[in-house]
Amino acid sequence: MSYAANSEQSAQRKKRRVTDILSRKGGAPLTALTCYDATFARLLEKTDLDVVLVGDSLGHVMQGGDSTLTVTVDDVAYHTRCVAKSLKTPLLVSDVPFASAGFTDERLYADAERLMRAGAEALKIEGASAELCRQISRLTTHGIPVMGHIGLVPQSVHALGGYRIQGRSEEAQLRLLDEAQRLVDAGCFAIVLELVDEATARRVTQSCQVPTIGIGAGNSCDGQILVLQDMLGMNMDFKPKFLKHFANLENVVVDAVENYCREVNERSFPVGK
Ligand code: KIV
Repeated sequence: MSYAANSEQSAQRKKRRVTDILSRKGGAPLTALTCYDATFARLLEKTDLDVVLVGDSLGHVMQGGDSTLTVTVDDVAYHTRCVAKSLKTPLLVSDVPFASAGFTDERLYADAERLMRAGAEALKIEGASAELCRQISRLTTHGIPVMGHIGLVPQSVHALGGYRIQGRSEEAQLRLLDEAQRLVDAGCFAIVLELVDEATARRVTQSCQVPTIGIGAGNSCDGQILVLQDMLGMNMDFKPKFLKHFANLENVVVDAVENYCREVNERSFPVGK
């Protein structure tokens, strides 16, 4: 069985490039989801999704961990290659994992090279410190598109004191506005706002020259992103406030496997001659 994209179908849709994402600022909302494997990438290729992120959330979804800190550049490169095999139309963005950006320049640039060679068309980097913005500026100047990520930045979960909403106070709001501007100045083509107070996300979106993509940041952002397995309801017990289960795949899978076990036990499958 081939997992390659159906080229006839994708030929009918327009390939999303960084310039298309930028041109959607203030226009029709951008749609983005995560993906980590060729099977789901093949399905996403049948939709009109704008952006696919090989997120370091793979630490939770694929590895069963309780943070993203264990995810390495080897992991992201591997999953990027898997997705790139079946994905043609949406923009493919890969996450720069923990302890890569913001530390030594050599490490970040080597990791960026690996992810781009694995098939990424852009990278996402968490944070907006002066040091990070200098590195992002160097990447963007040398033709590597970067998506910023501020608000709740999971790679800094320990410093932030947990997974909690950001940007509530006036001071925190001003800090996020400043961070967004610095990322724009460094050349980012879009910025993820994660778990950001709705009013703050609206203000950042209004003041920011590039599209904002929200997760748990209200509906005024220029686009939305969710973790694919979360929105498909593959774990119905996981239901943070911002999440909507657009399907209940947990039930579909469990029912199918139970039916299979029953039919094998009854010897009604496979059908004998
Ligand atoms: O890793 C990830 O999946 C992300 C998105 C939730 C934005 O960073």
